[in-house]
Amino acid sequence: MEQANVKYNFEYDRKLNICFIGAGGHSFRNIYPTFQYAPVDLAAICDKDADRAAAYARQFGARAVYTDYREMLEKEKPDAVFIVTSYTPEGRVQATDIALDALKAGVHVWMEKPTAASVEEVQQLMKASRDNNRYAMSGLKKVFFPAIAKAKQIISSPEFGTPSSIYVRYPQDIPAFAERSDLRKLKGFLDHLYHPASIIHYLMGKIGSIAYEREPFNGGTVTNMRFLNGAVGTLHMPAGVSGSSPLERLEVVGSGANVVVENGVKVTYYRKAARPAYGRSASYLVDDQAAPLHWEPEHSLGQLYNKNIFYLGYVPEVLHFCESILNGQPPQKGTLEESLEIAKLFEAYRYSPEGSPIVINGQ
Ligand SMILES: NC(=O)c1ccc[n+]([C@@H]2O[C@H](COP(=O)([O-])OP(=O)(O)OC[C@H]3O[C@@H](n4cnc5c(N)ncnc54)[C@H](O)[C@@H]3O)[C@@H](O)[C@H]2O)c1
Repeated sequence: MEQANVKYNFEYDRKLNICFIGAGGHSFRNIYPTFQYAPVDLAAICDKDADRAAAYARQFGARAVYTDYREMLEKEKPDAVFIVTSYTPEGRVQATDIALDALKAGVHVWMEKPTAASVEEVQQLMKASRDNNRYAMSGLKKVFFPAIAKAKQIISSPEFGTPSSIYVRYPQDIPAFAERSDLRKLKGFLDHLYHPASIIHYLMGKIGSIAYEREPFNGGTVTNMRFLNGAVGTLHMPAGVSGSSPLERLEVVGSGANVVVENGVKVTYYRKAARPAYGRSASYLVDDQAAPLHWEPEHSLGQLYNKNIFYLGYVPEVLHFCESILNGQPPQKGTLEESLEIAKLFEAYRYSPEGSPIVINGQ
């Protein structure tokens, strides 16, 4: 968490004047509620469904309701707009075109992932952002998880050594290669690839090349990655796990040290420690100075940190956007540059069959 102490909305002196496009399920559960803790004044909400927009306006305290977002941006002239929409019938991301319109209207954009369904579309957003001098940030919530931010801090410390390899597990199937020309069949994959891919890019940097193998039973994959900096990694996207199983596991190995994040919240830092003498040590308990460090949230108190809108990164990502815009700075996380790298990875799976190396970024 970037802020040690979280302010409540009404405690902020300076706020962004914002509008919101989309009154759907995810935004109701996870995005509008973040505004309790963010420097925003929610002026208006737009949804194609006027009744839903009106219900959300009552629930979350917006003053006006629209069904046409262009009219809303024109009339309200907000500093920024939040976009949480869905997919077109062809499987394209609705938010891509809406974000382009908003940037051209001179409005900063926070948009839910996926940012776009192709490299070209992300590049169009980058151009619109540059041309109109407005920022666009995507909701790459994983890089705002306190546990993932902690892992980043640990692997960036000199004691950890160079991050040399990474393992990420994220359950997700991908359809057979022949079906991938149809974007509609890739909706689930596009929707979720953003999660592990954003973690991988955040922790290890740009990928040079990948090669993947897919099993035909459930559509699960394993992907080997070589990063531009020489490190290696494995992305395990199993399909067919139990609905009762935690989804995610992450491990980064440095030089004599490693960090593990389980289930998005449990962090264990295995600090540099000598292995107890082989064949002679009666105890596995290393000295306190070298012992592993472990964190996990308590779930007893009515704290902010054990609300999902905090430990799943939603409040931190919204705060990062608002504070960046209020300070006249570009957001440092959830950037279009990160979305571009994710789009390159998406296209690698979409257009290249399993089994052979695929270049993501040339040396
Ligand atoms: N980060 C996460 O944890 C997470 C979780 C779930 C969903 N999501 C993302 O959130 C997005 C929305 O998901 P959802 O399940 O809430 O979808 P949804 O279909 O419930 O909601 C989308 C809403 O957008 C509205 N809409 C679409 N186009 C519009 C337009 N041009 N003008 C005004 N309103 C418009 C629709 O009427 C609908 O009410 C998706 O991009 C999904 O990937 C992210």
